[in-house]
Amino acid sequence: MILIVVFVGAAFTLNRLRHTRTESPPPVTKQEKAIAKPSTQSQNETPEQIRSTPYLERYIQDVIVHGSRQHLGFKYGDMPEKMADPALAPKIAAYVVTLSGRKPTHPEWVSEGRLYYTSNCGGCHGEDGKGVHGTFPDLTRDLMLGIEKRLEKAHL
Ligand code: HEC
Repeated sequence: MILIVVFVGAAFTLNRLRHTRTESPPPVTKQEKAIAKPSTQSQNETPEQIRSTPYLERYIQDVIVHGSRQHLGFKYGDMPEKMADPALAPKIAAYVVTLSGRKPTHPEWVSEGRLYYTSNCGGCHGEDGKGVHGTFPDLTRDLMLGIEKRLEKAHL
């Protein structure tokens, strides 16, 4: 009898252990950590840095990974997080900066980034990135709305 109780107890504990393990989220990759760092949220950047292409690339990657809840004034409301695989965010960002005529830090990522943009973002922001007036933001602006807000906030 005691043996049965011990056996059932052990089986139960093992099963719970297995369960907790399968439920824990996958480990965050180095790349995701780097992206998740709120590098575009610090107040110490100069206006030149905030207007720069590397800053814009980080901003776009941040929006792809974390979504956008900036109340930019669009009917659709918030942009949900993870609209694309975070690992693809740097490539998509390289393409998106070309929409406003900028030269990306990694031009070699542009053509691949464009494919991912079309399938993950084009449905809302349009294949040409011009968005839908009043509903989805235009990504071809030289200064994106969120970047403008940051410049204003910093009184620059
Ligand atoms: C389901 C529709 C939808 C999809 C898909 C989507 N977005 Fe968005 N996006 C929005 C909305 C709505 C906003 C405005 C949210 C806000 O007010 O903060 C936005 C905001 C943005 C902004 C900030 C714009 C600015 O002017 O500051 C960027 C950058 C952006 N999206 C890039 C992307 C990229 C890149 C993808 C593809 C990986 C993508 N979005 C997919 C709906 C979408």
